[in-house]
Amino acid sequence: MSESEVVKVERYNGVSTIIMNRPHKRNAMSPELHVAMDSTLKELEKDNDTKVVVIRGAGGTFSAGQDLKEFFRAMEDKPAEAKHIQEIANRWRWERLYNYEKPTIAMVEGYCVGGAFMQLLATDFAIAADNATFSLSEVNWGILPGGLVGKVVADSVLYRHALYYACLGDAFDGKEAARVGFVNFSVPQDKLEAEVDKLAQKLMAKSPAVLTATKQAMRAVRTMDFGQAADYLYAKNAAIRANDPEQSYKTGMSQFLDKKTFRPVYEPFKLGTLLTDQSVKK
Ligand code: COA
Repeated sequence: MSESEVVKVERYNGVSTIIMNRPHKRNAMSPELHVAMDSTLKELEKDNDTKVVVIRGAGGTFSAGQDLKEFFRAMEDKPAEAKHIQEIANRWRWERLYNYEKPTIAMVEGYCVGGAFMQLLATDFAIAADNATFSLSEVNWGILPGGLVGKVVADSVLYRHALYYACLGDAFDGKEAARVGFVNFSVPQDKLEAEVDKLAQKLMAKSPAVLTATKQAMRAVRTMDFGQAADYLYAKNAAIRANDPEQSYKTGMSQFLDKKTFRPVYEPFKLGTLLTDQSVKK
């Protein structure tokens, strides 16, 4: 695992927590941190022991966004270096996370500012502390929300909220972030870790193949018309049934219809039961 000083990984029972680790700079993202996040995410995606990835920051704060000194000022006279690091910064915070095979959760406490909205909104789920502080601060120090921040914000929440917070730069708390839709929900600070773990456990109880296909499909249909979406979803379901090692469809059907051992409205079917389950209809 390519851990570095600026990025740490903690593993526990299938959950790998990636920690942005520059607490003295409120986890502002330096070029070094971008490189380390990119390689860490890449490695965890193929790590068999990692079922869910959580992203958080050290020292009680998520991230104060791009490092204004190291990512901006130090790059002003180095266009080639700046382009290279911008590509890496966008890759891990967008392409990699957005298309990640495994479920991802952002755990937000302390500050979540500017460029940090990209990893916030590229993860599948986000839970914040009620007292976290969010801000699209760019307008306050002289740029617009660049990288892809403006795009992901405009795509993620209602247009009026996106415009309001991008143009005002006002700080808002975790409860407001949940109301507007930047995070799924917020909880008291002392319950944050437990709530993130609870969500991770729920995700790990699902069929991995079906969960991955579901999140890929929900993202993909956003930019399709109805005809394209119907066709794509039909094909995606066929692909799950053809390739799923759990044979989730047959197993789930059998456990509900034949064995009557679970009810889908309240819980997922029991994973890992197919091989001993002779009653699954072929
Ligand atoms: N880039 C570079 N350095 C940053 C930083 C950033 N985005 N955010 C914080 N830091 C540094 C500060 O310069 C300070 O460094 P120093 O100790 O060498 O002086 C250190 O982190 C602590 O910051 P400080 O402002 O003293 O902490 P605070 O808890 O009082 O306030 C913030 C925290 C996040 C409210 C404040 O630092 C801030 O407004 N940062 C700018 C955030 C921003 O606009 N980010 C957008 C980038 S896209």
